[in-house]
Amino acid sequence: MGILDGKAVVITGAGRGLGEAYAMHAAQAGAAVVVNDVDADLAEQVAEHIRGYGGRAVASTHTVTDPTEAEKIVGMCLTEFGRLDGLVNNAGLNYETLPWEDDPDSVRRTVEVNLLGVIYTGIAAMRVMREQGGGSIVNISSGAFFGQRKLATYAATKGAVASLSTSWALDLETENIRVNAVCPVAHTRMVWKSERSLRAIPADRTPGKVAPLVLFLLSDDAEGITGQIVRCNGRQLHLVGHPYFKQPVLESDTWDTTSVKRVFDGVLQAHLEPFGLEKRMPPRLRELVEPGQTA
Ligand SMILES: NC(=O)c1ccc[n+]([C@@H]2O[C@H](COP(=O)([O-])OP(=O)(O)OC[C@H]3O[C@@H](n4cnc5c(N)ncnc54)[C@H](O)[C@@H]3O)[C@@H](O)[C@H]2O)c1
Repeated sequence: MGILDGKAVVITGAGRGLGEAYAMHAAQAGAAVVVNDVDADLAEQVAEHIRGYGGRAVASTHTVTDPTEAEKIVGMCLTEFGRLDGLVNNAGLNYETLPWEDDPDSVRRTVEVNLLGVIYTGIAAMRVMREQGGGSIVNISSGAFFGQRKLATYAATKGAVASLSTSWALDLETENIRVNAVCPVAHTRMVWKSERSLRAIPADRTPGKVAPLVLFLLSDDAEGITGQIVRCNGRQLHLVGHPYFKQPVLESDTWDTTSVKRVFDGVLQAHLEPFGLEKRMPPRLRELVEPGQTA
């Protein structure tokens, strides 16, 4: 008995890396899997591999960046397996650059795959899930959404995926469709391309170590869990807190530049937030915490 017995799931970007691990583990847990990837050879190989072990899988080579193709990915699951219970919106890409050296084509491609792809495939899937009476969507975000050097465009798409997930979770609760986001950490091609990530991520962070979390969220064992952002980083598994309106909330009939300056020079100064994944202190906060060490 696997935790996904009888279910049919779509995993995008499943030809390699984390997506491949989700697909293999989902199949081992009993699911029929649509292995989607624009890299056709890899998608076929993973599907073949699953079938070789006696599992059920078909390859989809559609791109998530086109709404019609996204519908076909989902449609394939219905045609082949007669239902759709889960979607893992995993396809993604990144690149490092200083923001002033970023180029519009790379920006557009990243937004198209990482954000529009998630939206298009998610919309196609939720239409089917509504008809069917429920389902589970797992959107792959990234800790980069807190803000990371040289990854601004990527980080922005992953932040958008986080807020998309919580918004969908609100809209889909009454439809019995759960939506959660996962921030994985694993050695994959995406990490191998970046010297900094290679240094930062220990070699034992393999994609297979993240897969059980994704499987759990897809499964009925996760009933009642929706709107959550969960990070899996080696030995660490934790929830990611949601942004919130921070105290003190100051009130005034009007906020002119003089009164705004006064509160930033005064009460708000100590409440400035460290920012980015590295929790960088803004200079004014640093000056308060470590006087004379503003560099
Ligand atoms: N590796 C990490 O540590 C890490 C950390 C945080 C988030 N993520 C996220 O996890 C997901 C998987 O990343 P990975 O590290 O396995 O990367 P990867 O580069 O190894 O795999 C990504 C796959 O997505 C496919 N893909 C790209 N564009 C596509 C499209 N338009 N349609 C369908 N498939 C497409 C690629 O062909 C590739 O096989 C990504 O969304 C990534 O942002 C990874």
